[in-house]
Amino acid sequence: MRLSMTKRVFLTGHPVGHSVSPAFQQAALDYYSLDVRYEAIDVDAPSLSQVIMGLRDSDVMGANVTVPHKEATVAFLDELTEEARLIGAVNTIQNREGTLIGHNTDAPGFLKALKEESGFDAEGKTVVVLGAGGAARAVVVALASAGVKSLVVANRTLERAEALVDCLRSILPSAEAVALDSGALGQLAARSQLIVNCTSVGMSGGTGQGETPIRTDLIPARALVCDLVYNPQETPLMRAATKAEALVLGGLPMLVYQGGIAFELWTGKEAPIKVMFEAAEKALRARQPVG
Ligand code: ATR
Repeated sequence: MRLSMTKRVFLTGHPVGHSVSPAFQQAALDYYSLDVRYEAIDVDAPSLSQVIMGLRDSDVMGANVTVPHKEATVAFLDELTEEARLIGAVNTIQNREGTLIGHNTDAPGFLKALKEESGFDAEGKTVVVLGAGGAARAVVVALASAGVKSLVVANRTLERAEALVDCLRSILPSAEAVALDSGALGQLAARSQLIVNCTSVGMSGGTGQGETPIRTDLIPARALVCDLVYNPQETPLMRAATKAEALVLGGLPMLVYQGGIAFELWTGKEAPIKVMFEAAEKALRARQPVG
């Protein structure tokens, strides 16, 4: 007879090798000496439904979902939180006795990062969001729920920004869409208190590596510039923002806080955020090229 059964939490994505979630989630589980393994599994689109089905097993506590499966996973779950429904994507699954509940902890993780790391409360603020993909969608829903005063979505492809703004009309009627290279962006950025980069520009190894998503002279002093890109930990946008005397926040806090909220959903225990930060930073350092 087995007296104890190791429980499991999975990360599903494609690819998953680059993810730092296994490092900081396992560190958090080990902090409480929980008999739980956090395992990354590379899942291609045709296998997704079968893998999600397997999460109903009694030894599985839940899962994280990452790119490119956050949207497609929705169809295979039993229940969704209101936030996940609005965003149309899940990044966390909870297995409650065979019932799979889909959450999106990216949105509250983003707000928590703003508050805990920068002391920034989005209520009543004027915001510019750069990008209109999945990350931007979670950020826009988060900012709407926090009660921002006005919000502009600026994207390279204007139609995508318009589609995002249109589809969130019910929660943010005043949101506007502009093109990233529009002349109007200068004025909009100048009066913003928060600029959030949700594009992949600046990401190490990506097509926009070493670049900034907006002209650096458009960054207003005293605004908070938040870059969701976490590798490198200091992006070209963050460097330019510091130079412009703006405040900066990198992407690692959002990653860790969304993971902390997921950890609390699976385990019912308070996330050991400091332990998680240290493990995430160590994992990122380990993959920096030397020399
Ligand atoms: P995610 O789900 O991580 O947000 P995505 O849906 O692929 O990823 O979105 C990537 C975002 O980065 C998009 O807003 C994209 O702009 P487009 O909609 O015009 O493609 C933006 N992006 C990527 N590379 C870019 C670049 N070189 N310049 C400007 N924006 C870029």
